Amino acid sequence: VAIKRIAVMTSGGDSPGMNAAIMSIVETAIARGLDILGIKRGYEGLLDEDLVPLSLDKVRGIAFKGGTILGTSRSKRFLKLEWQRYALDIITANDIDALIIIGGDGSLHGAWELSKLGIPTIGLPGTIDNDLSGTDFTIGFDTAVHVARNAIAKIGDIAKTEDTAFVVEVMGRHSGFIALFAGLTSGADFIVFPENPISAEFIGKCLLKRQSALRKTSSSVIVLAEGVSDGFTYAQEIRDVVGNNITINVSVLGYIQRGGVPTAFDSFVATFLGHHAVEMLLQGKKNGMVGIHGLDAIFTPYEDLFSTKSTPPASLIELANLTNMCGCRDI
Ligand code: F6P
Repeated sequence: VAIKRIAVMTSGGDSPGMNAAIMSIVETAIARGLDILGIKRGYEGLLDEDLVPLSLDKVRGIAFKGGTILGTSRSKRFLKLEWQRYALDIITANDIDALIIIGGDGSLHGAWELSKLGIPTIGLPGTIDNDLSGTDFTIGFDTAVHVARNAIAKIGDIAKTEDTAFVVEVMGRHSGFIALFAGLTSGADFIVFPENPISAEFIGKCLLKRQSALRKTSSSVIVLAEGVSDGFTYAQEIRDVVGNNITINVSVLGYIQRGGVPTAFDSFVATFLGHHAVEMLLQGKKNGMVGIHGLDAIFTPYEDLFSTKSTPPASLIELANLTNMCGCRDI
């Protein structure tokens, strides 16, 4: 079937750069003579038939805006087959030939379900977590790292001034990419993440050692990925080891990591992927995700995408551990 009309949605947790992807999809679609619709509020909006025609006017200037002009949702209804079939009826009734879905793991699983029902879909990796295989970087990751890194550096100033230790909890659900990149680029003392779950007990002992023997300081910044533990529990476990010798403060960065103007790199990745999503649909590619590898667009079918987990490479974990273990290897 020739593709004449496509629709785009953003789904799941929003991520900076989603708007740039929408803009690029709309521009490429219009340049190629396609009709383009936006689906509001992800799968929830699809089930409510909340559709809007998109034009160059509607997307002008949005590449600099955080969030997503289409809105988003985490749809519980769409997890059920009956609602997926209902969504297909809406897609067919609106003469939509293919869908582009921008989102993370859950959203792209939804895209896979729709494609199994017969509607061509292409997924774009839109999540701050960078936890999808089939791409070097996801849309929004760089901005989240930027925000976290700046915050960690500010907290580092306080830790030094007050001679105290801070646990800084960053996002990333089950993945350590944000903790790793933000920790490495902010000069954190410890970086703890699911793929490298250093115990609070080890850190407590190491803090005591650094205080007494090595640097004669209690100042320390521990970057903790939420996938390991929540910051308050982890800090208490460190306190259980260090007692009153060292003050352990906690800072949970939370949603600020998902907002704001996307970095130039995120805008670039989003623009690049949005463009290639449309081009690939027109070349007959479907039912997979478009990712960026080096400066190439790569297509990965959903079944391959979900059979591989995206984890930080061993060399980066080792690099983090050089920091973590500094002076504490013998503990
Ligand atoms: O997947 C993106 C993300 O920000 C994760 O890092 C985080 O664990 C989760 O979303 C938070 O989900 P919610 O927005 O539903 O609270």
